[in-house]
Amino acid sequence: MGPFRYPRFFAHRGGGALAPENTLAGIALAARLGFRGVEFDTMLCADGVPFLIHDETLERTTDGSGDVARTAAADLARLDAGCRFHPAYAGTPAPTLEQALDLCARLDLVANVEIKPATGLARETGAAVGRLLARRNPAALLASSFSPEALEAARQAAPAIPRALLLESVPKNWPDLLAGSDCFALHCAAGEMSAALAADLAAAAIPWACYTVNRAADAERLFALGARALFTDRLDLFADAKIGVC
Ligand code: G3P
Ligand code: MG
Repeated sequence: MGPFRYPRFFAHRGGGALAPENTLAGIALAARLGFRGVEFDTMLCADGVPFLIHDETLERTTDGSGDVARTAAADLARLDAGCRFHPAYAGTPAPTLEQALDLCARLDLVANVEIKPATGLARETGAAVGRLLARRNPAALLASSFSPEALEAARQAAPAIPRALLLESVPKNWPDLLAGSDCFALHCAAGEMSAALAADLAAAAIPWACYTVNRAADAERLFALGARALFTDRLDLFADAKIGVC
């Protein structure tokens, strides 16, 4: 893994709160607003193709129903992933990971690809995502996951792609978890970050980032503690002059 340059902010799930999550429309919007980085979630469909989607089921974000892992790529590609967000986005598809990576490359965006395996498919998902990432520019990519198994499979398929371990809560043995997953960085829920934890991370020279930060005061606190990047839904709040590369 080479050094990775974090953008200051990642637009969470593509376009944050301003666009349907995990869509090309959201990613494009983030770029238009001046974001340098986007985060999105990726999961395998029934054919083993990684699509951008957060939930294991289709209902919340699309007009489909059932499990993503049991839906064929051709059927998934036909679903509407915009209409639940707002009628103005009706007809917006759920993109494949390939499509999203192509767009990020075109827009010069750093992509944090969160590997989101459906239950029981951690290894397959990490491996499939890793194979796609291995063909891309590692300087503009960061893989992350809550699943150490998925991260390990991604590492085997794409050793040059930097990896971050996601933790919703940070247990005392976080150094063991980080070392065990062979990740260079830790990403955790914003509420988990304390001055003591930030000091321990700094002492261990571990870069860290927090999700999901939607208030200026929280962003200021976390950057003061040493956050390398923050994930936000508030593209309206954090776009413009505050955007930059660390
Ligand atoms: O990668 C940070 C964040 O996206 C993790 O949580 O549930 O929004 O994917 P979630
Ligand atoms: Mg995510």
